[in-house]
Amino acid sequence: MTKRWIFGVLLVCLGNPAVADTQPKRDTSRGELLYSTYCTACHSDQIHWRDKKIATDWIGLNAQVRHWQGIMGQVWSDDDIVEVARYLNVLHYHYPEHVK
Ligand code: HEC
Repeated sequence: MTKRWIFGVLLVCLGNPAVADTQPKRDTSRGELLYSTYCTACHSDQIHWRDKKIATDWIGLNAQVRHWQGIMGQVWSDDDIVEVARYLNVLHYHYPEHVK
């Protein structure tokens, strides 16, 4: 019982670097907030680091964010989608940003 609980907490902490104690305190952007609220349930950073990326450019990254917020039953505005895409882009992808 207790072991399972500890394991659960560990999993949550490992899967979400934002809650790690070592993270320096900084302002949380809207994109980061949305992402950590709705998307980190099954996303470890690894999904965004792997070699075989689905999102191969800025447009593709936006499309993926739109796709996934829909799957999560969200109806994000274009602004919210761009905010999250920008957050992931700065963190992982580093694609040149086009105006949509
Ligand atoms: C139900 C689990 C789950 C949730 C929740 C989820 N994702 Fe994903 N996401 C995945 C999986 C699994 C993949 C890899 C899909 C594949 O390989 O076909 C993925 C892929 C992606 C990719 C493409 C990564 C690449 O390879 O370039 C992006 C971007 C992404 N998700 C964003 C989001 C965003 C934004 C949210 C929140 C709105 C979200 N995801 C919520 C499971 C999830």
